[in-house]
Amino acid sequence: MLLSSSVIPLSVLSLVAFATAVPSRTRSGAYSCSEFSVPITVSASTVKLNLTAPQSQIELTGLVADISHLNATIGNEVTVGPATVNATYDIWSQLCVPDDFAPDGILEFAIHGAGFDHSYWNFKNGSQYNYAEAALETGHAIFLYDRLSTGKSSKPDGIQEAQLGTETAIATGLVDYLRTRLSFGKIVGLGHSYGSIQMLSLAAEHGNLFDATVLTGFSAFTGGLPTTFASFDLKIASEVDPEKYGSLESSYTITEDATNEQLVFFAYPGFDPEIFEETIKIKSTITIGQVLTMPNGFQLAQNYTNPVAVVTGENDIGACGGDCNTPVGGAPNVLATASGLFPAASNFSVHIPENTGHGLNMHLTAPETYRFIQQWIKEVL
Ligand SMILES: *[C@@H]1O[C@H](CO)[C@@H](O)[C@H](O)[C@H]1NC(C)=O
Ligand SMILES: *[C@@H]1O[C@H](CO)[C@@H](O)[C@H](O)[C@H]1NC(C)=O
Ligand SMILES: *[C@@H]1O[C@H](CO)[C@@H](O)[C@H](O)[C@H]1NC(C)=O
Ligand SMILES: *[C@@H]1O[C@H](CO)[C@@H](O)[C@H](O)[C@H]1NC(C)=O
Ligand SMILES: *[C@@H]1O[C@H](CO)[C@@H](O)[C@H](O)[C@H]1NC(C)=O
Ligand SMILES: *[C@@H]1O[C@H](CO)[C@@H](O)[C@H](O)[C@H]1NC(C)=O
Repeated sequence: MLLSSSVIPLSVLSLVAFATAVPSRTRSGAYSCSEFSVPITVSASTVKLNLTAPQSQIELTGLVADISHLNATIGNEVTVGPATVNATYDIWSQLCVPDDFAPDGILEFAIHGAGFDHSYWNFKNGSQYNYAEAALETGHAIFLYDRLSTGKSSKPDGIQEAQLGTETAIATGLVDYLRTRLSFGKIVGLGHSYGSIQMLSLAAEHGNLFDATVLTGFSAFTGGLPTTFASFDLKIASEVDPEKYGSLESSYTITEDATNEQLVFFAYPGFDPEIFEETIKIKSTITIGQVLTMPNGFQLAQNYTNPVAVVTGENDIGACGGDCNTPVGGAPNVLATASGLFPAASNFSVHIPENTGHGLNMHLTAPETYRFIQQWIKEVL
């Protein structure tokens, strides 16, 4: 059907090359999505962790307690040197492109956080909570994927392979892949939580890989992390749900109770209880390697000179300790601390949606958050 017109825009032709594209509509126009798996070969700089997969929940909870300490040192203690991961992984991906997308149009590249898969950005299709559709309504194309170890992507060793360095190498590989197959003008990097930490790490390593960067569920303040890890109360995934996760090694962990999800991701009463229930259904695993290497992403992005926006919910515990409007160390609010990580950025903007927790997309403020992000992209690009 896409091929029936005699004038085929380059973008649509490129999309056809990916897989069968399924046409759909937002309020403002038609678009097509395709889903496909991309084999990505990496030679990634990782770290050697002196740990083996936990043999019991007691051992895992001991590790979670160590990670939850104020000024925790466990990450440094178990990091015994640099390593290289040479491997090829299958990364499940989704690309959605407006039918009238121009070859100089804007592509958003989204990295989800820990505890979710790509559905964080494509939650409740057709509702006000769906980020992908908000981007498509603006006329942007959007690329989503299941990070390594989640969803339908490869699930390698959860300690030595599923780490920050492997994941940023995969993200770089995916950007290259898109550049060779889709015609677009500018590319915006969008992260949530651990995905935002990856965006920072990519900016520190590659400078202007992205033309603009939007970091959600993020700040430079780390004082909220102990509470977050303790609240997560991670369990061995294969023991929590043998049917779903039985084949995963014990370095893959997940929350067991809905209250753990609420503590980490939600700010009561800023959400609809039904949406909370729906969110529990899309929760995903996180590996020990990811938890321990996540802090390594806090690097100085001195060669990144493009615009940056930080968008974090007012009551985010992990990123702000529970109140993002608190002035810290000379900065007017907790999010402003992140400007120091991007000293050469051409624009640094912050937005703090009220009564909103770490999982911004699942709160009543989601439409306002999406409006801010789309408007900011329009103004800076
Ligand atoms: C929303 O659902 C429709 C119908 O299943 C599908 O065609 C469309 O691609 C979906 N949109 C997104 C953004 O996934
Ligand atoms: C690894 O850990 C074990 C015990 O936890 C310790 O005995 C050993 O010295 C550590 N190895 C390195 C290289 O630090
Ligand atoms: C990984 O690949 C690089 C080249 O891409 C090679 O130099 C290196 O020796 C390889 N390392 C391992 C551990 O296989
Ligand atoms: C320990 O953590 C507290 C709270 O985040 C912080 O204020 C303090 O600077 C940290 N101390 C060290 C030595 O890092
Ligand atoms: C930043 O760019 C300069 C000049 O190209 C280069 O020498 C330097 O190594 C880069 N820094 C990083 C951290 O990549
Ligand atoms: C960044 O861009 C926004 C949107 O155009 C603008 O409102 C704001 O003043 C800019 N901030 C800085 C520090 O340049």
